[in-house]
Amino acid sequence: MRTPIFAANWKMNHGPSEARAFMQRFLAEYAARDDRTVVFFPPALALAAAREAAAGRADIQWGVQNIAAEEKGAFTGENSAPMARDAGAAAVLVGHSERRHVFGETDEQTAGKCAVAFAHGLIPVLCVGEKLDEREHGHTEAVVLRQLRAGVSRLAPGDLDRLVLAYEPVWAIGTGRNATPDDAAAVHRVLRAELQALGATVRVPILYGGSVNAGNAAALLAAEGVDGLLVGGASLAPESWHAVVSAG
Ligand code: PGA
Repeated sequence: MRTPIFAANWKMNHGPSEARAFMQRFLAEYAARDDRTVVFFPPALALAAAREAAAGRADIQWGVQNIAAEEKGAFTGENSAPMARDAGAAAVLVGHSERRHVFGETDEQTAGKCAVAFAHGLIPVLCVGEKLDEREHGHTEAVVLRQLRAGVSRLAPGDLDRLVLAYEPVWAIGTGRNATPDDAAAVHRVLRAELQALGATVRVPILYGGSVNAGNAAALLAAEGVDGLLVGGASLAPESWHAVVSAG
């Protein structure tokens, strides 16, 4: 039995005070369950406050939304993998569509970030996904396979088995237009076959993300090959997030 992963990507929302208030309200409703994993990706500045507010809740996991590909040094404004680990993160989003398409992050940078994450004990959640014009031109498979192959190209042997992958079609993120469960299953199948071809010896979790909400979470989670959900907008209010993590 797989344990589905419910990941909240708060993006640039909820500073320390709001994060604290969110956790208090959410955890008052959500009791620990051993049939699912809940992980939060708050802004780095709010991670400590969110964790403090969830003290005693070992069932909740933590991550950061981004790290630098370098370990330390003169990179003003960046956070490193060792810092994220020291601050209590167990995971990091790598290559989220906003990093790629708003901040111009390259495949080469995602490779460096995945490698430095593993080197410091962080699990990278590598995000891949096609833009609308790429889908319309029939390039979905080529795009997600290129992003996957590049992202894992600098991993040490064995690291692949500890990776988490997220399929997030760019046209579905924040648009209210989610992929259908069949669309998601089709891409997850392609990604899973490639993970095997690349040498994965375990079932690497593949999350779906893009306009997930309380109304569609159960159907997406039930789609073949979908091991969890990566959620932006619907993770921002305790009530809607509670409804999502209660799905399935
Ligand atoms: P959304 O964002 O749920 O608001 O579409 C998902 C994501 O960007 O991870």
